[in-house]
Amino acid sequence: MTARIEIRNLWKEYGEQVVLEHINLSVAAGDFCTIVGASGCGKTTFLRLLLGEESPSRGEILLDGEPLTAEPGPDRGIVFQRYSVFPHLSALRNVMLGLELRGAPLSGRLFGAKRRRARDEAAAMLEAVGLGHALEKYPDALSGGMQQRLALAQSLVMHPRILLLDEPFGALDPGIRADMHQLVGRLWRENDLTVFMITHDLKEGFHLGTRLLVFDKLRHDPDAPRAYGAGVTYDLPVARADQRTLERIEADVSRSEALAPQSAEAEQASETRPAAQPTAGADAGAGARKGATTP
Ligand SMILES: Nc1ncnc2c1ncn2[C@@H]1O[C@H](COP(=O)(O)OP(=O)(O)OP(=O)(O)O)[C@@H](O)[C@H]1O
Ligand SMILES: [Mg+2]
Repeated sequence: MTARIEIRNLWKEYGEQVVLEHINLSVAAGDFCTIVGASGCGKTTFLRLLLGEESPSRGEILLDGEPLTAEPGPDRGIVFQRYSVFPHLSALRNVMLGLELRGAPLSGRLFGAKRRRARDEAAAMLEAVGLGHALEKYPDALSGGMQQRLALAQSLVMHPRILLLDEPFGALDPGIRADMHQLVGRLWRENDLTVFMITHDLKEGFHLGTRLLVFDKLRHDPDAPRAYGAGVTYDLPVARADQRTLERIEADVSRSEALAPQSAEAEQASETRPAAQPTAGADAGAGARKGATTP
């Protein structure tokens, strides 16, 4: 069966800085990939490549076997950490907008039965994310959690095949985050989505998805910190991963955070430390591998 997303030898460079290197990944329809990694290692860049907002320096990305179009399309929806909704439009109009632009690309306005249909669809989607009571509210009258629900509705009303989430719950209180986890899990199942979600919270990554991808540099040169990019260093079926693996990844990610300003001490320590290996027993399964994309 064709993978929903197939990534072949993907590299992304900005000038002399290598951000991502040698990423090979095959993601099936229905996978829910959570992504963790040190700040600045290229996670958002990876999502922007999937969205089509950036193009690879080398390699290719296939969506259902076809090369990704060079610009964002309705088959991919994205939700950022915050501020991705339009402040001057009501919740309902925010969600209708994508449908209107698709139906009337030039004017962005639909009339008659088409407009009523778009309105009903948008209202149903807002209902599905728990905002059925707030159709006419403007974003600044919505809480942070409600704004993220609105952003989800805005993406999902276009029926994307791929949903990209860039730390969508990072700014929310813990209680509200738990509600949002439930919501995203339900929307993922009900809408037949393939999800890529970046999170800084490794536990969130472990419990929410079906697959955890860790982005990290496989090579460091203290004299040339921009010479090497991040690859996928762990690729784990998380529903079955264990506590020890979680702790090991947590240690790896914080080591990379510490390395970011290129401390020579940290570099030395990492050289004398044996390479981490995820538990390869019954728990971790065949999909779990450290250095998954090593050449
Ligand atoms: N358009 C761009 N031009 C030049 N450099 C860029 C561009 N976009 C990203 N970068 C660089 O690429 C690197 C990775 O950035 P990215 O935003 O992908 O990191 P991240 O893993 O999402 O970090 P964070 O966890 O802090 O959000 C950074 O060093 C950043 O400065
Ligand atoms: Mg980011």
